[in-house]
Amino acid sequence: MSGANDSYDPKQVSALSPESLAEASDAALAALAAAADLEALHDAEVAHIGDRSPLALARREMGALPPSARSDAGKRLNLARTAVADAHAAREAELRAERDARVLVEETVDVTLPWDRARLGARHPLTTLQERIADVFVAMGYAVAEGPELEAEWFNFDALNIGVDHPARSMMDTFFIQAADGSPDSGLVMRTHTSPVQARTMLTSTPPIYVICPGRTYRTDELDATHTPVFHQVEGLVIDEGITMGHLKGTLDHFAQSMFGTEVVTRLRPSYFPFTEPSAEVDLRCFVCHGDSVGHPERPCRTCSSEGWIEWGGCGMVNPRVLIACGIDPDRYQGFAFGMGIERTMMFRNSAEDMRDMVEGDVRFTLAFGMEA
Ligand code: PHE
Repeated sequence: MSGANDSYDPKQVSALSPESLAEASDAALAALAAAADLEALHDAEVAHIGDRSPLALARREMGALPPSARSDAGKRLNLARTAVADAHAAREAELRAERDARVLVEETVDVTLPWDRARLGARHPLTTLQERIADVFVAMGYAVAEGPELEAEWFNFDALNIGVDHPARSMMDTFFIQAADGSPDSGLVMRTHTSPVQARTMLTSTPPIYVICPGRTYRTDELDATHTPVFHQVEGLVIDEGITMGHLKGTLDHFAQSMFGTEVVTRLRPSYFPFTEPSAEVDLRCFVCHGDSVGHPERPCRTCSSEGWIEWGGCGMVNPRVLIACGIDPDRYQGFAFGMGIERTMMFRNSAEDMRDMVEGDVRFTLAFGMEA
């Protein structure tokens, strides 16, 4: 039998006995089978397969067996461990498949569900351009003035030296407003320009006056590529002592450069407006041919009709008759005024060739201007 230095104590290594191993592996198999999800399986793994599990502890006891007993015990232990490891792998595969199937169902995204297609709104590019123009002048100390779109004929015409028989009354293609009693002459019109705001401002404030008035204006034009019955203008008015056309030209140059870049070239071309004297049209050097088409019929320019210049707006020194009508002493004060179309400005600034795009409200046009809120 065993010698004196055989310290085999059957009690100490009872973990390797067939009963103990069967008990440990049965418990392990039962726990693995009972694990309802991967988390429970992990707990069962730690308890029955991990380093401190009965099977792992039994393995450590191998060294305590006499060599004659090791082979049998080793086989038993391996069989038990393999059976448990196989059961673990099988249960894990099962639980993973279950989990994957459940996740596929629970986390399904129904791409056919209707969703909110309403886009975030943004202001119209004409509105943001008007504000940008106002900013240019506010930076120079101008105030922003406003006036009504439904305007008294007196402000729209008379105060601006456009008498009843003045051809400008019909030239301006005015929308006249019928009176409530049906008579055609209510004394009200849809303002044909922003210049009545000049008169309103002069009547309600004392010089020095530096104002800008962007706003909506109306004329009986058909909507086409270059006309719209409802359009926008920006009016500028300065009344102060010692104001000259030099100030007007410098102001317009600054305005033009801030709209079209520092390369832009302007020119004042003599013209006529009843409310300014002298009056001028403000022209811009053609953006497309830069004047190269002039005198060269072989390379005509559609943009400026080969004239080299395109008209931007009107301007002039405020007519003393207007100053008097608005209660300002023409011997002490002088002023200048100018008026530009915002749609035209946008055409030149953004190469927008058709005004209809600006009024029809197609987002494909407005999106190109960004989503400025
Ligand atoms: N009110 C003029 C127009 O609509 C433009 C203008 C404004 C001209 C101010 C001179 C001075 O045509």
